[in-house]
Amino acid sequence: MKTRRQFPDLRFILPLINWGLPKFNNKSLLSKVVLIQDFKEIAARKVPKAVYDYVEGGAHQEVSLQRSADAFSRVEFQPNVLCDISKIDTTVEIFGKRISIPVIFAPTGYTRLMHHSGEIAVAEIAKKNNLIYCLSTMGTTAPDELALAVPNARLWFQFYLMKDRDASVKMIQRAQKHGFEVLILTVDTPVSGIRARDIRNGLTIPPRIGIKTLFDMAKKPQWWLNLLTTAPLEFAAFRGYNEPLAQIAAKIYDSSLNYDDITWLRTVWDGPIIVKGVQSISDAEKLADIGVSAIVLSNHGGRQLDKGPVILELLPKVVEKVGHRIDVFVDGGFMTGQDVVAAIAFGAKAVLVGRAYLYGIMAAGSDGVQKVVDILSSEISNTMALMGVSSIREIKPEHVKLRNS
Ligand SMILES: Cc1cc2nc3c(=O)[nH]c(=O)nc-3n(C[C@H](O)[C@H](O)[C@H](O)COP(=O)(O)O)c2cc1C
Repeated sequence: MKTRRQFPDLRFILPLINWGLPKFNNKSLLSKVVLIQDFKEIAARKVPKAVYDYVEGGAHQEVSLQRSADAFSRVEFQPNVLCDISKIDTTVEIFGKRISIPVIFAPTGYTRLMHHSGEIAVAEIAKKNNLIYCLSTMGTTAPDELALAVPNARLWFQFYLMKDRDASVKMIQRAQKHGFEVLILTVDTPVSGIRARDIRNGLTIPPRIGIKTLFDMAKKPQWWLNLLTTAPLEFAAFRGYNEPLAQIAAKIYDSSLNYDDITWLRTVWDGPIIVKGVQSISDAEKLADIGVSAIVLSNHGGRQLDKGPVILELLPKVVEKVGHRIDVFVDGGFMTGQDVVAAIAFGAKAVLVGRAYLYGIMAAGSDGVQKVVDILSSEISNTMALMGVSSIREIKPEHVKLRNS
């Protein structure tokens, strides 16, 4: 049969037209973000390439990054149906207090480089959502400033033990005095990883302004305006050292760091110590033996040793050996709530996320970070419901496996 045609009738068409002018604020920008990975494209438009690459990139050929993404794609859930999931509880207890989802903001250096609102904005979102924020030793906000700016937040201090032990003690005492609850000692940086993107981009902190930069300024005016009209970028924890940044950086990584130092650190820090950057069962066992409170299985987001073990594959083996003695946290490449649920099923206490919230802050400042939390929260509870579990406690190893391909 032939379709009969007619002239368009304006009475039916007019109500379908959206007459509003396009809006360019965060609200309209964020309405387009459904998955955390949607932030990547927006972030890449907002910040200079060298900054975006610094966040996204890994060490050497970025094989670890690739393998970790591959591992997440091999996750297979084993759901149960006909379970009462009318109430879902996504909370988990960490060192005696509950947080709203099993996700912790990982320490990331130079956060004010990604967005001028920096560490304070992320810690505020953490507090608002009943989550934990880890401040990096390499932060662009000092521990005391952060604690004063975001009072009563749950703050952990990530620490690089320095060659100068007196300076180390002073720094962690300062953090403790200002209410930081946990010390996370990062141990996967005896030397810095070789990051090809940063070398190619000639990344410097703070960014140097050359001819190339001037072109970039024309393309990313808002980012540059914010950089130039807010407090200068600096390693804030080292303020008062009166030394050039390069010399401070050289002080930070102590390549002689070993197990005895951790035993010593336990006499200096009065609270839980977590060791971050563990990548083997034997190290996990030794650390449990010397009495640390927890470990973070981590390859520093693929930014240090390339081609190390795949953390998601290592997780259940480490939990089997030490999970009954210490908490095992994990990080590296977590971009969805499904990834988080899989790690919990493999025995992790909680997951640290780094890039996920950095993409959010680069794209839309603190609104972007809030959206990342919203996405993770709804994905975690959605996955739990579809798997037939109503609390984090009920997520068990039998709920997940890693396919071979
Ligand atoms: C831009 C950036 C800076 C980082 N800075 C630090 C740091 O100062 N200290 C630290 O222990 N880890 C640092 N990390 C590693 C994170 O804490 C975390 O281990 C890693 O980002 C997890 O992987 P993900 O980013 O894929 O979530 C950094 C990661 C990124 C992406």
